[in-house]
Amino acid sequence: MVTNWPAGQRVVFGGDYNPEQWPRATWEEDVALMREAGVNFVSIGMWAWSLLEPSEGDYNFEDYDHLINLLHDNGIAVDLGTPSASPPSWFYHKYPGARVVHRDGTVVTNGSRGAAAPTSPQYREAAAKIAGKLAERYADHPGVVMWHIHNEYGAPVSHDYSDNARRAWPLWLQERYGTLDELNRAWGTAFWGQTYFDWDHVGLPAISASVTNPAQRLDFARFSDAQLRECYLAEYRAIREFSDKPITTNFMANECPATDVFAWAKEIDIISNDHYLTAEDERNFVGLSLAADLTRGAAGGAPWMLMEHSTSGVNWQPRNVAKLPGELARNSLAHVARGSDSVLYFQWRASRFGAEKFHSAMLPHGGKRTKVWQEVVELGNRLTKFDDVQGSRVHSEVAILWDTESHWAQDLEWRPTIDHDHKERTRAFYERTWRDGITTDFVHPSADLSSYKLVLVPALYLLSDADAENLRQYVAGGGTLVVSYFSAIVDENDTVHANGYLGALADVLGLQVEEFHPLRANNTVQVSGLAGTLSADVWVDDLMINSAQVQANYVDGPLPGAPALTRNSFGEGQAWYVGTRFGIEELAAVLAGAYRDAGVVVVEKPEDLELVVRRGDREDFLFAINHTTQTASVALEQLGAMFGGTPPAGTLEVPAGEVTVLRVDRNSPRGWSTL
Ligand code: GLA
Repeated sequence: MVTNWPAGQRVVFGGDYNPEQWPRATWEEDVALMREAGVNFVSIGMWAWSLLEPSEGDYNFEDYDHLINLLHDNGIAVDLGTPSASPPSWFYHKYPGARVVHRDGTVVTNGSRGAAAPTSPQYREAAAKIAGKLAERYADHPGVVMWHIHNEYGAPVSHDYSDNARRAWPLWLQERYGTLDELNRAWGTAFWGQTYFDWDHVGLPAISASVTNPAQRLDFARFSDAQLRECYLAEYRAIREFSDKPITTNFMANECPATDVFAWAKEIDIISNDHYLTAEDERNFVGLSLAADLTRGAAGGAPWMLMEHSTSGVNWQPRNVAKLPGELARNSLAHVARGSDSVLYFQWRASRFGAEKFHSAMLPHGGKRTKVWQEVVELGNRLTKFDDVQGSRVHSEVAILWDTESHWAQDLEWRPTIDHDHKERTRAFYERTWRDGITTDFVHPSADLSSYKLVLVPALYLLSDADAENLRQYVAGGGTLVVSYFSAIVDENDTVHANGYLGALADVLGLQVEEFHPLRANNTVQVSGLAGTLSADVWVDDLMINSAQVQANYVDGPLPGAPALTRNSFGEGQAWYVGTRFGIEELAAVLAGAYRDAGVVVVEKPEDLELVVRRGDREDFLFAINHTTQTASVALEQLGAMFGGTPPAGTLEVPAGEVTVLRVDRNSPRGWSTL
């Protein structure tokens, strides 16, 4: 990963710019307005293949020459996108077999975007070729500061069942398993008589009569992710032939389940992410924080780029709720608080035609009189004071484990209950820490955990022996671990661990799981032993206790009197097990003991006052984001733990709906100024 920020030391501001949709006269107006708004960075090219290569091998760079010069002359840096997410119509006409086929056999048509199959050799070759042509032409242009390959790999289509996929699949499996015996073992094909005797007989896991072999489907998810990554790498190599500028591709880190962000991150110079609020979620700002923290995790803590978000409503959700005054700045600065060194939107100017004409933009259809435009200009101006924030890092004492492979496996059919959802569990544990003023990192179960006081493990269904050993070492060395139900059930082949549920974590937790008791729809159970009696639902584990100490028991439900929450001393550390589904409110009491064990401090503050610190070389920056409709205050002494020092006496007051950024110089007596 590169550490050099591509656009000078500043938090960059701008967004996707799609000038193909406008005449050149509008481009002139655009750059003038961009300057007015403080825009210093735009992404172009993602949808420009038809413009750049109107027929195969016939290139038109004249428009882009003009455009890139125009942007550069106006001080606007260019993130040059490759257009591989939308091949031109001639491509589909010439290579009809390059189109994606859905699991049910439907062949997608062009006339939209994302219709090309990642397994198609013709597509890969054409995409790498246009990427190379762009790199050859613009590698040395001073206005082009980075490369942006493709757009949101895995969306709208990630799994392809075309003939190309059918040909590539056995080859990938041979690479992974070497022999058919090994494949048969890994997939457990002895079950339902599925044994394979010839590589050519191993089909794609398309729709079958009943449930398809889950290990086969899990491998197909890996295969599909790998195909996308191969496409990315082919373009990456094509660009690297001409340019050494940083390369990114924009994730939808937690929204695109098809891509394993931690695996991808190894191949990307600067991690970038697109995030859109879930309009129906009234607390969608927590989901935003989660996405930002996950992106920072993928970046290994390094500065990352918020490549896209919206100035107001989007156009593709069932109800596209518009943002209220102040929400734009709160959302954008929350990403910055959590490590983004950019504020970039989809898109600069609202499209008058096409599928996204109702999507908000920096420059809305209503032009400069609009509230959105005014808020954009205001934020652009504010960000000019953020140069010293660039490069500072978020520091966390708590980690939440995130493993895409475990999510893939958990999402397959025939699980114990349809009411369990790993996303919901992750959000619940995350939101608890969020409300408690604790900043968390997301890390892979194989990561070095030694710097964390506390590690939370929400529903980590798939856990390999090697990763379990990592967790064991963490606890043995003094760490505090909290594991929820439906964790460590299977290995990487979706095979139940040889010693039963919990596998290699059984001794760490001092218990085993005998049986799952999912509850009927809308049933609850009561749990006593914590702060009074707490309600839980969805899931009850029947536990076999070994060395663990029981902390709370069921009052009713399928197992009255049985343990619901346990704590086990293991080595120098402590391991907690939560055997039922507690809501976010109840999790406060559930996690209190683990916080105590770990020495993690809960900040006394209004729940929806979001507090995050970024640490620079000499200065700290406290972002205080008030998501409430009242002034929110916090005693400064509360923040000592966040800064690792002694703050002055006094109270920080953040007006309703506003964001206060405090700057603290660590070298001078503790004084505070606002940014
Ligand atoms: C995604 C895409 C953009 C645009 C936005 C709309 O993030 O990358 O091209 O479609 O969604 O929200």
